[in-house]
Amino acid sequence: MCGIIGYVGNNNSVPYIIDGLKKLEYRGYDSAGISIIQDGSLVTVRAVGKVAELEKAALIANPKGGTGIGHTRWATHGKPSEENSHPHTDCTGDIVVVHNGIIENYLTLRAKLESRGHRFKSETDTEVIAHLIEENLLHVRASNDPDRLLKAVQKTNKEISGAFAYGVLWARTPGLLIGVKNQSPMVVGLGKNENFLASDVPAFLKHTNKVLFLEDGEIAVLHVDGVTVIGKDGKEAKPKPVKISWDQQTAEKGGYEHFMLKEIYDQPQAIEDTLRTARTDFGKILGLDTEGIRKLRNIHIIACGTAYHAGLVGKYYIEQLAGIPVSVDLASEYKYRSVPQLPHTLAVAISQSGETADTIGAVKKAQSLGFRTLAVCNVLGSTLTRTCDSTFFTHCGPEISVASTKAFTSQITSMYALAVFLGQANGNLSKTVFDKLYKELLTLSKSMSEVVKLEYDVRHLTRKIYKADRFIFLGRNVNFPIALEGALKLKEVSYRSAEGFAAGEIKHGPISVIDKGTPVIMIMPHDALFEKMLSACQECRARGAFVVAVTTKAGAKQARGVADKLIIVPQAGEFLQPVINVVPLQFLAYWIAKRLGCDIDQPRNLAKSVTVE
Ligand code: M6R
Repeated sequence: MCGIIGYVGNNNSVPYIIDGLKKLEYRGYDSAGISIIQDGSLVTVRAVGKVAELEKAALIANPKGGTGIGHTRWATHGKPSEENSHPHTDCTGDIVVVHNGIIENYLTLRAKLESRGHRFKSETDTEVIAHLIEENLLHVRASNDPDRLLKAVQKTNKEISGAFAYGVLWARTPGLLIGVKNQSPMVVGLGKNENFLASDVPAFLKHTNKVLFLEDGEIAVLHVDGVTVIGKDGKEAKPKPVKISWDQQTAEKGGYEHFMLKEIYDQPQAIEDTLRTARTDFGKILGLDTEGIRKLRNIHIIACGTAYHAGLVGKYYIEQLAGIPVSVDLASEYKYRSVPQLPHTLAVAISQSGETADTIGAVKKAQSLGFRTLAVCNVLGSTLTRTCDSTFFTHCGPEISVASTKAFTSQITSMYALAVFLGQANGNLSKTVFDKLYKELLTLSKSMSEVVKLEYDVRHLTRKIYKADRFIFLGRNVNFPIALEGALKLKEVSYRSAEGFAAGEIKHGPISVIDKGTPVIMIMPHDALFEKMLSACQECRARGAFVVAVTTKAGAKQARGVADKLIIVPQAGEFLQPVINVVPLQFLAYWIAKRLGCDIDQPRNLAKSVTVE
């Protein structure tokens, strides 16, 4: 996700901002920029690539001034390029904005602003904020009103919707920096004769550990000698400063010991952000009209690793909700197998990074067969998104831990949204069913906030089982891929042997590996196959397994006497249950690896993105 840093103080802001941007590099980005107020004008320097590139450019431009803002951009709207990098400016060039988040109504706003004569220089959603502030400044009558910029910002906030945190400078008001927070992170650092605005504490931790954590709807007004926070109601809020005791490294992980743990906890927000686009954009993204969608006869899903498991879940969704036959291939296999060249086929490539060589190779093969291609990807501007005909962004923010967690749940959520969309468009779903399924989707983020509370229970459970050599994960139907993913996660971070199976299959072979004390993790919500999962539980128990049942409240009653341990997850809609069920498995992998002293964020032999065949 984008990173913001702002400074007001008596020193030259440039070194503070460049250093702050370096401290935000861990968030992932593709370009960076700064704007400084110098002698009543704004000097802006931007560069594609690393902050080191920006630093070189800044050395040449050599801006100087005590008020400045900087930004690292993780592209969401518009490709990574210098024009699209922040800060963005209005028509006068006197206002600059840096932003993290998504302005949902930016297309409508942009059209209106253009019709009123505003000229846009980028493809970003952010630029509308600068132009709106430009207009709204004109509505504040008294030109000497000291709150003029604040009032213009307040008016602007009423016009934009979505998740956003942004910082604003106005060339005419050196010594003033305004920050807004709404559903995206923004914090204030309180220094001595200098104050900071940032997406995250590490950006200024070197200079101060006194922090104000802004709430949604709050606006921070920063001057050299003090900070005022204005609440949602327009009145002054008086948040208490918090003293941070984190070191720099812990701060980058939001206070968590590892990125993997932080990213597990990021999931409610990641789902929310992914859904924001899924709600509005699918039809446009696919580039197919209703007739084109009705004609679709096959869907080929191609992916690797965790993304492949998301694809397997997607198959259940699309076949059931849209009635379109789906094949799911490991990308490395698809590339070399004989794929029938059937008309009206859509190939869907799922990838967090968009740089996985096998997936890109498979997409090229699909294209050579004449198939339309859709990427479900988390990195804008990545090779995959440039190769496919269209892209749906998962918007879960940069995933840093090698073991994928939030990308997986965002990918499944996207597959669900795609399935529901296709089902509605091709007439497979009635309006009533569609509305019900969509309603369920909108509650998913809330259920995710509930399920992350299970960390303590899972952590406690792992004390008993972490020394086992072998772990088995079982699920059925849409929870079968979740069993596969649970096993993969555990293997990756703990180096233990772990296998996932369809529970109905164990009697055909895998049951032979179950021994006294073998941990068997059964994903068994109270659904149509619950009774069958209970039987599998009994079969494993009879062979001495230590059975952990991941179930819902409705299943707990029956599972209690059968399993050795229950993990009770919140109930979501039938199709969304897998998104919830995987979270305790992520915690399980994390805590077993932690107890075994493994390198959780950088497991041995693994790379975050596998860019070779
Ligand atoms: O970036 P991608 O989603 O294309 O990566 C695919 C796999 O390499 C990836 O999911 C891998 O399995 C992860 N380490 C899973 O945690």
